Amino acid sequence: MATKKTVIAFDLYGTLLSTESIAQELAKIYGEDKAKSLAALWRRYQLEYTWRINSMGEYKSFSEITRNALGHAVAEHELTLSAKDADTLMKSYDALHVFPEIPLALKLLEENGDRVEAYVFSNGTDEMVGNSINTSPELGPHAGRFKSLITVDGLKCFKPDRRTYDHLVEQAGKQGEASDVWVVSANPFDIAGSRAAGLQAAFIDRAGKGWIDRLEPNRNPSVVASGVDEAIKSILKN
Ligand code: LAC
Repeated sequence: MATKKTVIAFDLYGTLLSTESIAQELAKIYGEDKAKSLAALWRRYQLEYTWRINSMGEYKSFSEITRNALGHAVAEHELTLSAKDADTLMKSYDALHVFPEIPLALKLLEENGDRVEAYVFSNGTDEMVGNSINTSPELGPHAGRFKSLITVDGLKCFKPDRRTYDHLVEQAGKQGEASDVWVVSANPFDIAGSRAAGLQAAFIDRAGKGWIDRLEPNRNPSVVASGVDEAIKSILKN
């Protein structure tokens, strides 16, 4: 009898891919000294916009959200953004760099292919997520490791709306067995959302501060790991 594989869904932006790596592209337009803070602000507004639009019961695609958040970050720095530069930066967003431990994590997935069913689970549109995975020099050759790329575009809401996690559970063929599904994410709101929906969640704590999110102090991640590779090892030991 075939043993049941462990379902692990990996968040994309901020977990596999570094949203800070876009700073290199921002530096070409706005200079080194502004680039880092623009990248951080861009990410902050990107997330804030997803939460705000969720609360409003409305929807715009993640690519529109991302483009508009870029405009906000640039305006807050009292800089200007031409349509051409916005196009270039959005194209670069499809080619973000992976975090340093990701090649090791992918190797682990490969070695444990008979035990793990891996997915990418992201707010990004099918096009953004597909481009990011396929064009990344580190992820591209391993795209086949992921059974599918699960996005929320068809649902018209973003994480941490409960429906996004229910969708993941359903797509992984685990209806009624949410606690058998793992989400690996460095985004605390994604961890809290996964746990609230009954899934297991591994928090990637790159800053080494532990689980300090206090939205629901008694609801903790199932696992806290320093990197995605360590998270995979812990999940397989569970
Ligand atoms: C994602 C967001 C959380 O990839 O960055 O879903």
